[in-house]
Amino acid sequence: MATDIGIDLGSSKTVLFSSSKVVLEQPNVVTVDSETWEPVYFGEKAKQTLGRTPESLVCVSPIEHGAIADYDLTEMMLKNYMKQAFGNRIMRPRIIATLPAGLTELQHHSLSNVVEAAGGRNVTVIEAPLAIAFGLGLDFSKPRGTLIVDIGAGTTDIAVISLGGIAACESFKTASSDLDAQIMRHIRREYNVEIGPLTAEMIKIKIGSAIKREVEIAVIAKGRNVFSGLPESFEISSGEVYEAIKEPIDTICGAIRQVLNKTDPDLVSDITEDGMYLAGGGALLYGLTERISRYLGIQVRLLEDPTHSVVKGAAVALKNPQLLKNVDYQLRSIKELTVE
Ligand SMILES: Nc1ncnc2c1ncn2[C@@H]1O[C@H](COP(=O)(O)OP(=O)(O)OP(=O)(O)O)[C@@H](O)[C@H]1O
Ligand SMILES: [Mg+2]
Repeated sequence: MATDIGIDLGSSKTVLFSSSKVVLEQPNVVTVDSETWEPVYFGEKAKQTLGRTPESLVCVSPIEHGAIADYDLTEMMLKNYMKQAFGNRIMRPRIIATLPAGLTELQHHSLSNVVEAAGGRNVTVIEAPLAIAFGLGLDFSKPRGTLIVDIGAGTTDIAVISLGGIAACESFKTASSDLDAQIMRHIRREYNVEIGPLTAEMIKIKIGSAIKREVEIAVIAKGRNVFSGLPESFEISSGEVYEAIKEPIDTICGAIRQVLNKTDPDLVSDITEDGMYLAGGGALLYGLTERISRYLGIQVRLLEDPTHSVVKGAAVALKNPQLLKNVDYQLRSIKELTVE
């Protein structure tokens, strides 16, 4: 019996989905020996070393903006994750792996090769928004436009799907990790304190917002004073964070409008009637659905469990290979995919 596995190899984390559940979720971070480039830690353990490594170690994110930036490290990391999730009991796995829309054929091949090298035997690579569309159970026999936006850590993937194919798409490099970068910049400028990316992400998740909060909240965080070099605590309010992250949020809203501007007017009219779908971890930012909805003047539907919608959609396609056939997916593994 073949094992079916959905793989979402994102900018911030890998999610493996099999037997109707998430079987592994690990950050895409590898701590390597700075001289030999040999990996020392993978995943959660490596993420905890971010900004805390001695000179002999370096933290690397092998996936950048949704694409493989360091092939060898990605291969070693994925092998490690597959082993963690499945041990040695993995049998002829049928795999669908996803990547942002609008990447090159070379990037598709690169992902397919890395998954094969990590133990996959029957690998299909599809665009993340298409996977989300499969998960939504859209009726692909109708030429109706559906707008899907996936705000991840390193990419904002925007696609209009119609008849089960991608009618317009764009993958932008402004995404949720840019909000963290803005928070780091703000704190350095206003408090003369340097904070690490994990602290910035914590501030964003706890008090960040895309609309002004009616009731201000605040959080106390720690960093290092840029002049004295000593540790320092500071308090930051939600209003400050709102102002600090406004710009990249406006960029994301503008990017969605840009894709709509180049979409066929009939499809845009469907989207205006039905509303758009929002996925990805970045979509969980407080008030983001409301902000995008106000900006575009359309209803925004936040998907349930938005950080797993891509991998769950991939699993739906593994169960119904016909879905990929219907959209005339021209990948070599399609034939194999239909064979048990
Ligand atoms: N509750 C939350 N509020 C705001 N942001 C959040 C929340 N939860 C997660 N995030 C952000 O979502 C991002 C991760 O989202 P996701 O898992 O979809 O990314 P990814 O798939 O790894 O990246 P990409 O799709 O860009 O390659 C991180 O930047 C994280 O800080
Ligand atoms: Mg993603």
